[in-house]
Amino acid sequence: MNPLHLVVLAAGKGTRMKSAQPKVLHAAAGLPLIEHVLRTADTVSPSSVVIVVGHQADAVQSAMASRPNVRFARQEPQLGTGHALLQAEQALDGAAGTVVLLSGDVPLLTPATLQALVSRHVETGAAATVLTAMVDDPAGYGRIERVDGRISAIVEHKDASPEQRQIREINSGIYAFDLQPLFGSLKQIGSANAQGEYYLPDLVRIYRDSGLTVETVTLDDPGEIFGVNSRKELAQIGQLLKMTRNDALMASGVTIVDPATAYIGPDVAIAPDTVIHPNVYLEGRTTIGSGCEIQCGVRIVNSTLEDNVFVNSYCVITDSHVASGARLGPFAHIRPDSHVGEDAHVGNFVELKKTTLGRGAKANHLAYLGDAVIGEKVNVGAGTITCNYDGKKKHQTTIEDGAFIGSDSQLIAPVTVGKGAYVAAGSSITENVPAGSLAISRGKQINKEGWVDRKKS
Ligand code: UD1
Ligand code: CA
Repeated sequence: MNPLHLVVLAAGKGTRMKSAQPKVLHAAAGLPLIEHVLRTADTVSPSSVVIVVGHQADAVQSAMASRPNVRFARQEPQLGTGHALLQAEQALDGAAGTVVLLSGDVPLLTPATLQALVSRHVETGAAATVLTAMVDDPAGYGRIERVDGRISAIVEHKDASPEQRQIREINSGIYAFDLQPLFGSLKQIGSANAQGEYYLPDLVRIYRDSGLTVETVTLDDPGEIFGVNSRKELAQIGQLLKMTRNDALMASGVTIVDPATAYIGPDVAIAPDTVIHPNVYLEGRTTIGSGCEIQCGVRIVNSTLEDNVFVNSYCVITDSHVASGARLGPFAHIRPDSHVGEDAHVGNFVELKKTTLGRGAKANHLAYLGDAVIGEKVNVGAGTITCNYDGKKKHQTTIEDGAFIGSDSQLIAPVTVGKGAYVAAGSSITENVPAGSLAISRGKQINKEGWVDRKKS
């Protein structure tokens, strides 16, 4: 029984982001950087997670407050990584076992690597295990010094001699520690170095000097430990995360025509044999069934599409439900709390808001349908508007099954058009229309014959 605890460092300033927002809250591939790290942490089922916050602590803390089992430790001021880990002492008071240290700005670390680090650390019984990597360009990183093949120290780039700078094995900044000697030893770290900081990597030398074992795990793919320091790196890491996500979706049977321009969030589910065209954004808790086609330029947020839905180009769908066989767009706007029924059609320049469109109903051109319940097989003509707002309150429009709304009609809510009723084109409907009747409400046409010639003479 070896309990596992995680500490995530997120107190640093992130100067190079040039941002008013804390670095770890910047999003890559639809999630804040630190959320990627915490999701990877979840895969090893830790018994506790401590996030060390400092710079803009309140913002980080409130963004992560809804996560279960997370505690926070404050680091104020930020005196280096060794000092940062020391701030978790109180939160881990009385705990035993292993603590793994992660950085909130290193989001590509895989669950497999995290598991490998923990396993090796536990199997060898080491006091510390350092995750290292061989890289072509080690500039900026701490270098791994070895004696007879065993790690003896980590030297920070700024403190390294020209010979030490030749070393290509670098410190990832990710470690596993045995909790027992950890906090006592952290207090021995000094700050007499190039940056005047308390360097966590100094622990390696301290452990070696006191005869404690330090192990290493060396990564095959150094790409996993890339951190985000700038907006450019944020974009690069976003691209890598997107590719990983899209590869997994394609492997599961989804066609992605151009994976470079398909932006599919981590909590989106897509069934096989759906086709995603270029420049599509699928966000939040969106679920898409099988056999759907999502044409170019579509954005779907927190919505459910059942099977065989066709979404033509440039539609925006938010917090809504689209039943199977429905066809949308191009240029349809489906706003929150809308429900498009089975085999219904929503055409170009049609906006739905809090509206239910019944099975087989059609609103094919230029319409605003807000706060409406529209029955099965209703035909909504071009230019129809539900006038739902009187300047103070929103009112409901009800159109019952099989009704026909002629083009360019205004339905002034609250109002009901009964089952099978017809509304003549160009009508302003202010009173309920009984089932089966025709409502007509428009100026009567007068033709003045010969009027043009008379005017001219
Ligand atoms: C650190 C390591 C270096 C390693 C590199 C890997 C040290 C001294 N050096 O360098 O060996 O190669 O990571 O990326 O540890 N942080 C705090 N409080 C602080 C300082 C930092 O929470 O007082 C956090 C930062 O927010 C960041 C992480 O610790 O998440 C790493 O800090 P950073 O300053 O980026 O370390 P590096 O100089 O990159
Ligand atoms: Ca630093």
